[in-house]
Formats: sequence, structure tokens, C-alpha cells
Amino acid sequence: MARVLVIYASRYGQTEKISNYAAERLRHLGHTVDVWNILENEFSRRHVRDYDGVVMGSGIYANRFPRPLLRIAREQQRDLTKKQTAFFSVCMGVVEENEQTQRDLRDISLNFFTMAEWRPMQWGIFAGSIAYSKYNILLKYFMRFLAARAGYETELSRDYEFTNWKDVQSFVDEFSQRLHRRRPVRESIARPDF
Ligand SMILES: Cc1cc2nc3c(=O)[nH]c(=O)nc-3n(C[C@H](O)[C@H](O)[C@H](O)COP(=O)(O)O)c2cc1C
Repeated sequence: MARVLVIYASRYGQTEKISNYAAERLRHLGHTVDVWNILENEFSRRHVRDYDGVVMGSGIYANRFPRPLLRIAREQQRDLTKKQTAFFSVCMGVVEENEQTQRDLRDISLNFFTMAEWRPMQWGIFAGSIAYSKYNILLKYFMRFLAARAGYETELSRDYEFTNWKDVQSFVDEFSQRLHRRRPVRESIARPDF
């Protein structure tokens, strides 16, 4: 069975919840898993090279990922490309039935991969949460506006979870299958004969 590192950036807790769920699921499937919150812990104490696989997850805030995520992906890029890797973003836009929003959300991840010069073997976008209890007053109203735009009536007095846990489970199970293969499966690159 494989050794897996789950790295995540979460400001309001839902990405953390999804990461912990992914870790538990991977353990249930027989893997050994470490979980690392990069916004609270210095990442230099963990090394991607010590693992067979890496799952990286982050919330999206104002159309971007927290800065430390890109720094870590760039620093670890060489090792990441040699491992089985999966990436997931967590956001609210994904619940909107708007094609442009879906394209924009995909582009946020694709731009991140370009900047990191790393393309995970598998990636996905999960719906997150609206955690009014954790926001300041301005953020409460901004998030209520986002929810209304997505077609959801929400009350400021409670929190809302939109994550589809079946989607998360399928994503993790697919990654577990990849770990059994161990070697990253890459598209073959045509090389000229000299
Ligand atoms: C300040 C802030 C900015 C956000 N910006 C976006 C955004 O640009 N696009 C989006 O789809 N969701 C956005 N969201 C929704 C979050 O991605 C969602 O709440 C997610 O659950 C956050 O992850 P976390 O709970 O791990 O922090 C934003 C949320 C907050 C609080």
C-alpha cells in the first residue's frame, strides 16, 4: 500500500473537512496518510519525495488560491511530477448553473498548473460551504449575495454545506486506483529519431 500526503489550504474549514475525509477514505482503502494544513504549518518539514502520492486541495478566494499554495507547488514541482498526484479546488461558483462561471473556475486551476509547471494526474472542483458563523459582517453580506446569485436563499444565522460527498468519495477512490499502479501514467511523448 502507498504512502500519501494530503496538503491543503483552507481559510474557513470546508477544504479542511474534505481533506480529512479524503485522508480517512485513503486509510480505509489501506494507505498510510499524513495530512498537512499549509496555512497553519511550515511546509518545509514535509517532503513530497517521501511519499508515493500527493493530494493537494485549496479553497478559492476572490478567484485565486492562497499564495503559499503556488510557492509550495513550484518548490516541489520536480518531485510532484514523479508522483501520483491529485488536485481539488473548493468553491461556491461550481453550484451556479452558468457556463462562463464553470469555465472561469476551470481556468483558475489550469492557470495554477501552468504557473506551477506541474500538471496533476487527476483534478476536480468541489462545492464548498458558506460559513456565516466564521465571517465578519461585510463578508456575510458578500457571501449572501454570491449565494443569491447562485439561486440559493440563505439566512445569516446558520451555515450551509454544499459539498457532494459522493463526488469526493469517487474522486478519492479513483486516486486510490492510481496509487496501486504506483508509476505515474503519462501520455507518451513522441521523440524524433536521431
Ligand atoms: C472571502 C471569500 C472569497 C471567495 N471567493 C470565491 C470565488 O472567487 N469564487 C468561488 O466560486 N467561491 C468563492 N468563495 C467561496 C469559497 O471558495 C467556499 O466558501 C469554500 O468553502 C472556501 O473554502 P474553505 O471553507 O476551506 O475556506 C469565497 C469565499 C470567501 C469567504
